[in-house]
Amino acid sequence: MEWNDRVVVLDHPIVQHKLAILRDKHTPSNEFRDVVRELSLFETYEATRDLPLTNVFIQTPIAPFDAKQITGRKVAFVPILRAGLGMVDGALEVIPRARVGHLGMQRNEETHEPESYYDKLPRDIASRRVYVLDPMLATGGSAEAAVKYLREAGVSGTIRFLCLVSAPEGIERLLAADDDLIIYTCAIDDGLNENAYIVPGLGDAGDRIFGTE
Ligand code: URA
Repeated sequence: MEWNDRVVVLDHPIVQHKLAILRDKHTPSNEFRDVVRELSLFETYEATRDLPLTNVFIQTPIAPFDAKQITGRKVAFVPILRAGLGMVDGALEVIPRARVGHLGMQRNEETHEPESYYDKLPRDIASRRVYVLDPMLATGGSAEAAVKYLREAGVSGTIRFLCLVSAPEGIERLLAADDDLIIYTCAIDDGLNENAYIVPGLGDAGDRIFGTE
């Protein structure tokens, strides 16, 4: 499958520098959390680059002016529990008025397939512009299940999937699962190991965010 403009890699020196901090196994949980928040802010900034604008006529202290304001669909961030929670604060720093829906998907450690255990979405999710948050796009199983769930809940238009590290296998699976989806990632790693962890990756993002290793 052609990835073309459906996969956006944040190839920026500051992003790569911060990603190195996340990858380092010696980085403590508090710093790991902070850097996840910072990278999520940068990524949300990048993924909202195409928000539509409208003209608003205002008066500066000096002169009348045709200014720009964001218009169109309101935004919802949907973190996939639990690691996606680490990305919410950074995303909300970019769009403080966004609503946040939660989707609980956990990986069955034997089959590696996702199991849903919790969901709570904004009532008007179908009319919102949706950004799914999950730091690791590994097999793509929970990402695919989350996107299907959102489509069944009525979400239309482009879904944007924001992760920090991705594996080619997960990217392929997620792009194949939905025609109108863009993936934002800070890095595309080599692949998955036999336990479906991303290599080189950064380990278990949820455990490192919440200090449960
Ligand atoms: N989830 C993680 O947290 N890390 C991986 O490498 C893969 C899935």
